[in-house]
Amino acid sequence: MKPYRLLYPMRTYLVVAGKGEETNIMAADWVTVVSFEPFMVGVAVSPKRHTWGLIKKYREFVISVPSLDMLPDVWIAGTRHGPEKLKEMKITIVPSKTVKTPSIKEALANVECKLVDERDYGDHTWFVGEVVGSSYRNDAFEGGKPNLEAEFLAHAAWTDFVTFEKRVHHPPGI
Ligand SMILES: Cc1cc2nc3c(=O)[nH]c(=O)nc-3n(C[C@H](O)[C@H](O)[C@H](O)COP(=O)(O)O)c2cc1C
Repeated sequence: MKPYRLLYPMRTYLVVAGKGEETNIMAADWVTVVSFEPFMVGVAVSPKRHTWGLIKKYREFVISVPSLDMLPDVWIAGTRHGPEKLKEMKITIVPSKTVKTPSIKEALANVECKLVDERDYGDHTWFVGEVVGSSYRNDAFEGGKPNLEAEFLAHAAWTDFVTFEKRVHHPPGI
């Protein structure tokens, strides 16, 4: 048992980096919010990833939120290297609102980030981005919260993906 698996299941995201012909997408589980105001997110990216060099070069990236039905593309993004893989993917690249790095049309949400810090920890680089723009699908976020019917993607083990049950639980008395 690899110890990092003890923190699973985790959500799975897509990281878009680069622009134009250089646009590339990788899958990433190791993504988290690091600040509420200003809103900042961090992602751990191995220097082995093509995406790593693109984030360093353009100093921006987009975190896209995939749904379960995007799993075939998520798997390509997470197992192939470099922009050539986009030719095999079904997703549509669209302009972002505030950064040159594009967003993914089919994603439940796209979070547009400007790189504000980076630090190497062990075999990954922790990239921190300030969120400067975002877009989302109205059917995926209703009444200020995620609609679980949209089937947000999570990762249980290397080839095992899951989504959230539709039943919602509340703390006692609420
Ligand atoms: C579900 C999933 C999650 C992943 N999470 C990460 C991650 O958080 N950080 C990372 O560096 N690589 C992660 N990977 C591996 C990269 O997505 C993979 O090496 C990819 O091929 C890199 O693409 P690139 O070389 O085009 O950037 C993950 C792979 C999968 C399938």
